[in-house]
Amino acid sequence: MEDSINPGGIVVVGAGGHSRVIVSTIRACRDKVAAVFDDDPRLWGKKLMGIPIQGPVDRLHGHAGRAIVGIGDATLRKSVVDRLNLRWATIIHPHSFVDPAVPLGEGTVIFAGGIVQPEAKVGNHVIVNTGATVDHNCIVEDFSQIAPNATLCGNVSVRQGAFVGAGAVVLENLTVGAWSIVGAGATVIRDLPPHVTAVGCPAQVIKTRTSVPS
Ligand SMILES: CC(C)(COP(=O)(O)OP(=O)(O)OC[C@H]1O[C@@H](n2cnc3c(N)ncnc32)[C@H](O)[C@@H]1OP(=O)(O)O)[C@@H](O)C(=O)NCCC(=O)NCCS
Repeated sequence: MEDSINPGGIVVVGAGGHSRVIVSTIRACRDKVAAVFDDDPRLWGKKLMGIPIQGPVDRLHGHAGRAIVGIGDATLRKSVVDRLNLRWATIIHPHSFVDPAVPLGEGTVIFAGGIVQPEAKVGNHVIVNTGATVDHNCIVEDFSQIAPNATLCGNVSVRQGAFVGAGAVVLENLTVGAWSIVGAGATVIRDLPPHVTAVGCPAQVIKTRTSVPS
């Protein structure tokens, strides 16, 4: 199996929409994509942006090179990370800005136009998506995602696995609870508890999420 992986490149786990942006970002960094793996047998032997999709994710056990999970869904992303003990890459698009003193965790990606300001902390396997802003002193925990053009004002905490939807705004000093979802375009003006979905301006909780990690 190792023979078919381009040595020195980054393996992408998952072959959906998010993985395409991951591949593009790796290339923008002038790095190489080593291979793509996905558990969907219908994809095996097909190509993703010119790279063969080689087979199921479990074939990566024991792979020594760098890898990244190209799956947008936080629950799935976490389940893949829990399954595989790999060396996770951190990928920062050259047309983004990350304050040089900000620690970024392993497996985290900053897409084009993403901004991470001073004294923020960004955990492991986080997605700061296209044009998203993480302002000063924010804490963005493991497996969370700040979707395209979303804005975290200063000193916001986004707990583990939470998702802040496209174009949403979270006002300063607030917390988005673990595994909660902020709908696209919402404005969060109060803390959100864990495991809820909230939408609108101002954001209101519309449901509790059940099939997510505790
Ligand atoms: C919030 C969201 C997750 C809800 O999905 P869902 O749980 O499947 O909920 P539903 O689609 O059943 O919608 C439930 C209700 O919320 C409303 N709603 C859904 N999304 C909304 C949004 N973003 N803003 C305002 N209202 C919204 C629906 O109209 C519906 O209202 P109703 O009960 O009066 O008919 C989804 O609509 C959303 O905004 N996703 C984010 C998309 C995004 O940012 N993608 C970026 C990917 S990188």
